[in-house]
Amino acid sequence: MARIGVLTGGGDCPGLNAVIRAIVRRGVNAHGHELVGFRHGWAGVLAGESVALTHETTRGILHRGGTILGTSRTNPFKQDDGLERVRATLADQGIDALIPIGGEDTLGVARRLADAGIDVVGVPKTIDNDLAGTDFTFGFQTAVQIATDAIDRVHTTAESHNRTIVVEVMGRHAGWIATYAGIAGGADVVLVPERPFDLDEICERLRRRQAAGATFSIVVVAEGATPKDGAVWSEHAGTDAFGHTRLGGIAVHLEREIEERTGFESRMTILGHVQRGGTPLAYDRVLGTRFGVAAVDAVDRGDFGRMVALRGTRIELVDLDEALRAPKLLDPSLYETAEVFFG
Ligand code: F6P
Repeated sequence: MARIGVLTGGGDCPGLNAVIRAIVRRGVNAHGHELVGFRHGWAGVLAGESVALTHETTRGILHRGGTILGTSRTNPFKQDDGLERVRATLADQGIDALIPIGGEDTLGVARRLADAGIDVVGVPKTIDNDLAGTDFTFGFQTAVQIATDAIDRVHTTAESHNRTIVVEVMGRHAGWIATYAGIAGGADVVLVPERPFDLDEICERLRRRQAAGATFSIVVVAEGATPKDGAVWSEHAGTDAFGHTRLGGIAVHLEREIEERTGFESRMTILGHVQRGGTPLAYDRVLGTRFGVAAVDAVDRGDFGRMVALRGTRIELVDLDEALRAPKLLDPSLYETAEVFFG
């Protein structure tokens, strides 16, 4: 019997509770392990703030968005004594191994802990789908569906008013959400970080559409998209504990520029955290459940320093080093498919 610590770090993500529930069910029923949840990501590990994870405390959470454990963007390595405090908590609470559920930041901390001799198995989470080593992260499909639903709704109002509407989606420095939702929602232009854009070219495309008889247009833009001759556009200043700039707001700029340059009446909408909230799709509940089961099985086998991953249709384990070497950027062939339907 082992005592296993579980934590959720970084931005929350639909499907986190499915992972927690699966770790507990499998860990207790199949292996007889004890599960402990740390509150608010690495902050809870630093502070020793934990709760027992049992059948009772994880009942009825499968369909719930967010995370019952809470989360934060805390980086223990930003504090001089961070590693010692992590070690102290693990020793005080008799924790044998950790299962951190998170994206590149949370799992980056996990890798450093693994290098320091702490037993960890990671679970990949992010709506951005930008983590290497796995075909998909859980939460991504739900975010894409929410963005697609929004694009569908924006279509009817754009059409009624003969407007160009810019829809801004999340994704940080990857265009996965924008391209998937753009294809599914029938966007006329999709702008992604991987392909710096030329505003003149976009306006020309929109003019050609109108000349060919279209009365409205939908532009989907990823929050991290950048113009060819400029930098990332953000309405916010400062960085988080992992050095990331808070993105968001490029749609404000695009709405104004498109209207000024083309004369087409334009509007914009920023979907923001709506994309991360609420009920996970069945796909993400299933993927999260499979990840949770595989993660606690890996701990049971002593297969540490690894991350569970989806490869094709199978759940496998990959080294954390491989997963964190570089972010997984958009597949160019997917963007080419979206382009077939541009203006
Ligand atoms: O990484 C997930 C994500 O939702 C990004 O798409 C976005 O840029 C960021 O988190 C927003 O972070 P926060 O919730 O801290 O504003």
